Amino acid sequence: MIKKFLNLGYQPLANSYLRKKQINKKEKKFKLEIVFNDKNFLVSINKKIPTKEMFNSDYPYRSSLSKTMVKSFKNISSTIKKKFNPKFIIEIGSNDGAFLFNFNKKNIIGIEPCKNVATITKQKKYKTIDKYWTKNLARSLTKNNNCDLIYSANTLSHIENLKETFGAINLALSKNGVLILEGPALLPCIKNNIYDQFYCEHIYVFSTIALNEILKNFNLEIFDLNILNTHGGSTRYFIKKKYNKKYKIKKKVQKEISKEKKFGLHKFETYLSFSKRVNKSKEELINILKKLRKDNKKIIGYGATAKSCTVLNYCKINDKYIRYFLDTTPDKINKYLPGSKIKIKKYRKLSKKDADVVFLGAWNFKKEILKKEKKFKKAGGKFLIHVPKVKLI
Ligand code: TMP
Repeated sequence: MIKKFLNLGYQPLANSYLRKKQINKKEKKFKLEIVFNDKNFLVSINKKIPTKEMFNSDYPYRSSLSKTMVKSFKNISSTIKKKFNPKFIIEIGSNDGAFLFNFNKKNIIGIEPCKNVATITKQKKYKTIDKYWTKNLARSLTKNNNCDLIYSANTLSHIENLKETFGAINLALSKNGVLILEGPALLPCIKNNIYDQFYCEHIYVFSTIALNEILKNFNLEIFDLNILNTHGGSTRYFIKKKYNKKYKIKKKVQKEISKEKKFGLHKFETYLSFSKRVNKSKEELINILKKLRKDNKKIIGYGATAKSCTVLNYCKINDKYIRYFLDTTPDKINKYLPGSKIKIKKYRKLSKKDADVVFLGAWNFKKEILKKEKKFKKAGGKFLIHVPKVKLI
């Protein structure tokens, strides 16, 4: 049975940044509710937005803009070369090449349906297919399951049709091939009140127990995993075909499943208490912003993330509280955050003249950002963060 546990209100499409001429027009909004499937333990958003409305030629997200992500992709690439030495790799959701560029052009194909983003890797002469990952595409790219490694990071959460996705993976992957999937993990998300992991593009936030159940339907199984710090807590899964005996299932997999069950990720009550904590977090964030405004503190935002779209719209925060956001992404600059309509300005180093308090929209890059903005902190500037708890740091 599918059970609802969190209502995040009416939300616009998180990556649909508005141009100035659009800010007075009515935006398309949808009710963002989060549900739990008590059969396969899958947590998802209830309303699925047509993919083409989200992943089109206006898609602004660029992986390479974060040093943390570039480093993480570099590390996994060198592990892949050492451990699996693949001759033919497919990356599903290759974005601007942060993973792709670590490999020889001859050995890798990127799949990236956002044409504007796919152009970036095409220009560097990396074979990139600007289409969605489907069984037809898998058939056209591979001859009799000849792909020995499929990698996909922060993409599976975005794809509604898991049957088509894993079906296509099964068609492409060789007998002893390895599938590596990584993305935001449900355990840190629920534990640390990361409700902004949910937005239109994040249809699913996977747990090991849910992925394990889903993979059974496709004769695939997890044989290893890594716990990562990226995106507020991610998991990287190493997956193989069931009859592939080349890799043994590591004890770590069962350990992670036990950890998730101990926390209660298989029980609906766990999600109900998460929902209560999220409501409390909303109240606390609004109260602190009200107090800062009353004290005449200048507040700006840092990192106009898709995640902040969820927070701003759920808590009904607009430019009365946060004057503007700074961001490094070229396609976001001089546009406005959807729903809250807060302006996004080109990033410049933080100065105490610009702000007393900075709301950290890109809290998932806290370490990287705090290191970069040491001077601002030294001069008495504060960061406002809402996870795991609302506080000024
Ligand atoms: P993400 O959380 O969805 O990965 O998005 C991160 C956003 O934050 C992206 O728009 C780039 C922005 N950003 C900055 O503006 N400065 C930074 O130092 C970092 C790490 C990210």
